[in-house]
This record gives sequence, structure tokens and C-alpha cells, in this order.
Amino acid sequence: MAGPSSELSIKEKANLLYRGEALAPMVRASTTPLRVLALKYGADFVYTEEIVDRSLIESTRFVNEEMGTVDYNKDLAKFSEKKRKQILNGDVPPLLLRIDPKVERGKLVCQIGSGEPELASEAALKVCQDVDAIDINMGCPKKFSVSGGMGSALLSDKKRACAVVRAVCDVMHPKGLPVSAKIRLLSDVDSTIDFLSGLIEAGANAVAVHGRQRHDNPIYPADWESLRKVVIVFKQKFPNIPILVNGDFYTRDEFDEFRRTTGADGVLLARPALYNTSIFRKPEKTDSQTTPDFGYQSKLLLDKAKVVQDYLHEAVRYGVHYKNTKYVLCEFMSNRRMPIPRTPYLPQIYSAGQTVAKVCNCHSMDAICKLWGLDELVADLCRSSKEQSDPHKYLDSYFLNHENEKPGSDVIDKVKQESPLAKRPKVEAESEMTVA
Ligand SMILES: Cc1cc2nc3c(=O)[nH]c(=O)nc-3n(C[C@H](O)[C@H](O)[C@H](O)COP(=O)(O)O)c2cc1C
Repeated sequence: MAGPSSELSIKEKANLLYRGEALAPMVRASTTPLRVLALKYGADFVYTEEIVDRSLIESTRFVNEEMGTVDYNKDLAKFSEKKRKQILNGDVPPLLLRIDPKVERGKLVCQIGSGEPELASEAALKVCQDVDAIDINMGCPKKFSVSGGMGSALLSDKKRACAVVRAVCDVMHPKGLPVSAKIRLLSDVDSTIDFLSGLIEAGANAVAVHGRQRHDNPIYPADWESLRKVVIVFKQKFPNIPILVNGDFYTRDEFDEFRRTTGADGVLLARPALYNTSIFRKPEKTDSQTTPDFGYQSKLLLDKAKVVQDYLHEAVRYGVHYKNTKYVLCEFMSNRRMPIPRTPYLPQIYSAGQTVAKVCNCHSMDAICKLWGLDELVADLCRSSKEQSDPHKYLDSYFLNHENEKPGSDVIDKVKQESPLAKRPKVEAESEMTVA
């Protein structure tokens, strides 16, 4: 996928792409419908979910003319005999990545999970004709990633991290594609800057920093104080390389203030985009004085039921499996991952009485659409048989158990007391955090 202009240098392309407000990489969530919806609402660019190098390498590229997408289907050899037979008998092949070039062209960063330079570069080569940049995940603390030498394991192996970046740059730069890495804070500002400098020397054209360390619990607020220092020093050292900030940015005012005072080029939004994807809506130029914000109080935020309906339109359009759709809707509705002082279990009120339990009770895409009053989408579904195979493990218990396990007020109070939020400039009072 050619970027804004193939005449531009890689540096210029990176400076155009990595700027503004982006949908962050989120496994299972940052798939085609959420990326497309984020872009339609106003996101400047979007990341795919993390895709592991080997999965990309083993996938098969397919131009899906019926859907207008480019698909990367998973390798059939990885499936059981029974599943292979079902697939060969007409089941849709299991999908790894689906790209809609009409919407995503010029705005798509593909995130790869890798700890091996050769595999990372092979995976990047596999997908490069359909995306605008390659990002390497250096922040995921999950056992699966770390035990495979990927994600945050790279934070404690700078040599390997740089070798991965160098190998990907070696194959992407001749194709005109920028390369970036998403990291977490290291133990202090100096070591974070030292790590980032290594990545830039290895060829990285942009970086993103999540304001938490590898073992930080995400229910505690991100460490903006350290993030702020890192961005300031980075910009002094590398004024022409974009740096994105990430972690708990729930209002445009907060990001604007961060950008003004540090020089940060952009922000990645993960949970805020799950909370309400319309957070990407931008004010019209004419009302920029009256509604500069996004976040819980923003006049720009759409009602959450409308956001769910918009998401469902995209999910049906891109043939998403109903289990993956349930997963994303339950993430929208449960707030289970939100840092407590920012989103103390926001009330989720939907006019037709939809709840997480009712979504969990749906066992088909048409049941989900009916629950959200979208009977016309059910007709669309009947006309097509495009639903993907289920690519991810999904259990209702992820959400139902959580509903029963919400922390008590004692836990919430403790997190609030320990929170460094008080040190932050311009944070909204908690009582203002109502659902839009
Ligand atoms: C459901 C979910 C999946 C995630 N998957 C990824 C991923 O694939 N790659 C990655 O680098 N970070 C991943 N993250 C981390 C986010 O990109 C982000 O760094 C983190 O949530 C903090 O940002 P936030 O405060 O805007 O949510 C994931 C986060 C969530 C909530």
C-alpha cells in the first residue's frame, strides 16, 4: 500500500503518518471493524492487533474481490484434520488479517510480535505491499510473548531489540516503508532514553512509549511524570523523529497539554477507544473554541448504543465471527480493564436494556444484531454467508466472572489513595466522569 506519496523520503513519510490520534494495537480488538470505525470517526491512523511473525509468514495472501479487502488467511496445516475438512468443504478459511485498502490506505501500521530478526523481516516482507508501516511490539508482558523472546522480553535485551529493528529496516526501507517500535518505560528516564536511542540508531523511524513499566498493574494510572521527561529528552536528541505517547489519555485537553509541553507528536488510544470509539471524533474547525475536548464530558462523544450499532455494521460488513464480535462488545460494555481512578466502573446504561450478560447469551451474529435493534443487518447476514471462522479463543466467563468480581469500594479507595493522579495537571474531577 503506497503511503501519502512514494516520492517522499522515509523520514518524511514517518513524519506524516505517526502524528495525531491513533487507535492503539489491541489483540482481538484492533481488527478490521474497529480500525475502520476509528478512522471513520476521525482517528488519524490505526495499528493492527499484534500478529506473531510466524503466523504472518505462514499465512496466504488473498485478494477478496467480493468484499473489497486483502486477506491474510491462516495456514491450514496448523488445523486439525476435522477443521481442515470443514474448511475444504466450504467453511471460510481462518483469517489472520483483513485490510480494507479503500479506508485504510495511507493510515495503517501493522504490528508484528517477534524476537527473531530473520522472522521479523520475513513477516514484514510478507505484508508490506498492503500496509504503510511496520511496528515491532516491545511492550507486551504476557507469558506467551515473553517466553518466546518477544514483547517486553526485548526491553531487557537491547542488542536483540536493535537487531530486530535493523533487520526489518533493512528490508522495509528499500520498499519505502517506515519502521517503528512500541515500548514501555524502563526503570528510569536515562535507561529508557538509552534504549530508544539504540532503536533509532538501528534505523527506527518512529517510537511509541507506554507510560508503564513491564510489571506495572494497568489498574494503576500510567506514570506521566516519567513519560513527560522521556519525551522531552527524546525530542531534544531526535527533534525530527516522531514519538507517540500512550497510557490513560482520556481527554484531548490532556494530550494537547502533553504535546505542548513535551513536543510529543501523537497519542495511542487503546482502552479509551474501547470505552467509546467515538472518542476520535474531532471538532469542526468552527467549534474548536467550544468543544476542544474528547473524553467523558465531550459533546462530541456519541451515545454508546450508537457506537455499538456502528461497530456492528462494520462487523457484519467484514464478516466477523460472532464470538469475536461478542468479545469486543463486552470490552466496550464492561470497563473491566480501566484504571480505577480514571473510570471507576462507569455506569453502562443502554436504552433497550442491553447488558454484558445479554450479549453473552447471544449465540449468533443475528442474535447480537437483534439485541441492538438492528433487524435490517440480520437481513444482510441472511443474504451472505461470509462469517469468518473463529480465529480466537473466546469464553463468556471472561466477562461474566468479572461482573461478579468487581473490586469492592475498599480496593477502589486504596488505588485512589496510592494514585499519582494528584500530581497530574488538568485531570478532571472524578465526579465528572459520567457515561456519555
Ligand atoms: C484488549 C487489549 C489488547 C492489547 N493488545 C496489544 C497488542 O496487541 N500490542 C501492543 O503493543 N499492546 C497491546 N495492548 C496495550 C495497549 O496498546 C496500550 O499500550 C495500553 O492499553 C495502554 O494504553 P491505554 O491507556 O490507552 O489503554 C493491549 C491492550 C488491551 C486493553
